[in-house]
Amino acid sequence: MGCCRKTSRWEYPGRRSLLTAVIVICGALVTFLGETNAAAIPTSTLEFRHHSNEEIPDILASIHGRCPNITRIYTLRERSVRGLPLYVMEFSTTPGYHKIYRPEFKYIANMHGNEVLGRELLLHVASYLCERYLAGDHDMQKLINLTRIHLLPSMNPDGWQVSTDTGGTDYLIGRTNNNSVDLNRNFPDLDRIMFSNEEVHINHNNHLLEQVERLQEPIQPETKAVMRLIMQVPFVLSANLHGGDLVANYPYDASRSGATTEYTESPDDQTFRHLALAYATNHKNMANPKRRGCGDDGYNFGKQGGITNGAAWYSVQGGMQDFNYLSSNDFEITLELGCDKYPPASALQEEWENNRNALIQYMWQAHIGVKGRVRDAVSGQPLSNTVIHVKNVTAGRNDDILHDVTSVHDGDYWRLLTPGHYVITASRDGYHPLSHRVIVYDRPHEEAQRVDFHLQPLPQLMPSANGDSKSDTEYEEAYEETVRNNIVNNLRKKWLLNAYKHAITSN
Ligand SMILES: *[C@@H]1O[C@H](CO)[C@@H](O)[C@H](O)[C@H]1NC(C)=O
Ligand SMILES: *[C@@H]1O[C@H](CO)[C@@H](O)[C@H](O)[C@H]1NC(C)=O
Ligand SMILES: *[C@@H]1O[C@H](CO)[C@@H](O)[C@H](O)[C@H]1NC(C)=O
Ligand SMILES: *[C@@H]1O[C@H](CO)[C@@H](O)[C@H](O)[C@H]1NC(C)=O
Ligand SMILES: [Zn+2]
Repeated sequence: MGCCRKTSRWEYPGRRSLLTAVIVICGALVTFLGETNAAAIPTSTLEFRHHSNEEIPDILASIHGRCPNITRIYTLRERSVRGLPLYVMEFSTTPGYHKIYRPEFKYIANMHGNEVLGRELLLHVASYLCERYLAGDHDMQKLINLTRIHLLPSMNPDGWQVSTDTGGTDYLIGRTNNNSVDLNRNFPDLDRIMFSNEEVHINHNNHLLEQVERLQEPIQPETKAVMRLIMQVPFVLSANLHGGDLVANYPYDASRSGATTEYTESPDDQTFRHLALAYATNHKNMANPKRRGCGDDGYNFGKQGGITNGAAWYSVQGGMQDFNYLSSNDFEITLELGCDKYPPASALQEEWENNRNALIQYMWQAHIGVKGRVRDAVSGQPLSNTVIHVKNVTAGRNDDILHDVTSVHDGDYWRLLTPGHYVITASRDGYHPLSHRVIVYDRPHEEAQRVDFHLQPLPQLMPSANGDSKSDTEYEEAYEETVRNNIVNNLRKKWLLNAYKHAITSN
């Protein structure tokens, strides 16, 4: 039976029961194929216990064995300091490929080695997605059909080992990587660059890696690996799973003034609050105003809906969350999944039930707002690196949202937005900017609405005897106009890549 070939070491329950489990699974699949009753497939359950670093690839391999058509396992380019691979499991109907119009999503867990719940939750997410897909769950099939999902259960397997070997009880032991570096302080500090830009009234706050000139400290291999992932995959939405409190934390993490605690709004504050609430309100306890806070006299974030602005809680520099937002098109929040950083195995099942719906509903948020494709109106060529700028014109407002995104390889783009009325403008060197007015509705579990752009090339880009397009005054004027309109376009991919190379080799 093909279905059993890769189900080699599912859960280490001992050889005999393992064999039984495999037989039951295959038996059920045969029944399923015979009766075409999708709901008849039982869930192949992943045990609720802590899984070692060596077990992670085996678990992912068995899931891939069950769902070969919609999964892929890959490792990031760099390994941990102690040489362990960083495994990612991808779910999509085109494993290994970005598909046009399809948003990319990621969950990363266990960046702090001693915060381990997210790691187990992501293994369960992987198992759950596969099993529900096989069971014919319409909603889950639709999610996988429409989204490319990446799950990195452990970004810091070395720290996990240290924490586990010392009993998993200490608030700090195992938090860092093996070079004693806190990975969530190790990303290039783009907040500082963005705030400096603000001080001189430059509203440029996206794709900022090109402006990095020096680093506070050497970039660790685990950080480098994730930076590369962020630069390579056009993520739209993500979350970073931590522990130690129970709250969904959103940008900015670094305070504007440098104060320890200060609400520091990003231009997408409304959208980020919506995203954080999507997690908190779908979690069993996070948004509960009556639950206890963490620690002896800990504040209960449930009183504010289970969410917090990062810097309003405490200011963090060099974190992964803001790095995503300021270096790429990605929107990321940070999830604190519980008071206990290393919950006992006996608590894991309940924690999975507490988080399951939130984990799924949050993935659906990759489909809010608008998406589309930008093309040359004459040649039909897709136009990557087009700047997508949004103005909020809801109820007579006229507010620029000062955080642009860019179209990617196939000219496709995504712009997460809350419901409202917007003017979306696409602009690119050598083309007339074009605006579309749209109404964004709240449409749960539906694809984002499509807003495509066909940009008219400026005349000098048409085939001509004299190839020097830059000297053309019409081009210059349009360019000036674009700049005047506050739509800054310095996002050429080559610069970005060079800056990135510089950033990761300069240690
Ligand atoms: C995977 O795809 C192949 C070819 O389309 C199909 O025959 C097979 O049943 C699929 N397997 C699963 C587990 O969905
Ligand atoms: C998912 O995509 C497959 C293949 O295109 C299609 O057969 C199926 O109906 C889709 N399912 C849902 C729920 O959208
Ligand atoms: C590095 O790893 C080794 C082996 O697990 C461990 O003994 C040592 O304490 C670790 N160092 C740090 C700083 O985590
Ligand atoms: C646009 O404005 C409306 C009305 O104030 C608000 O509800 C919505 O969240 C805003 N959208 C964004 C993305 O900030
Ligand atoms: Zn943490």
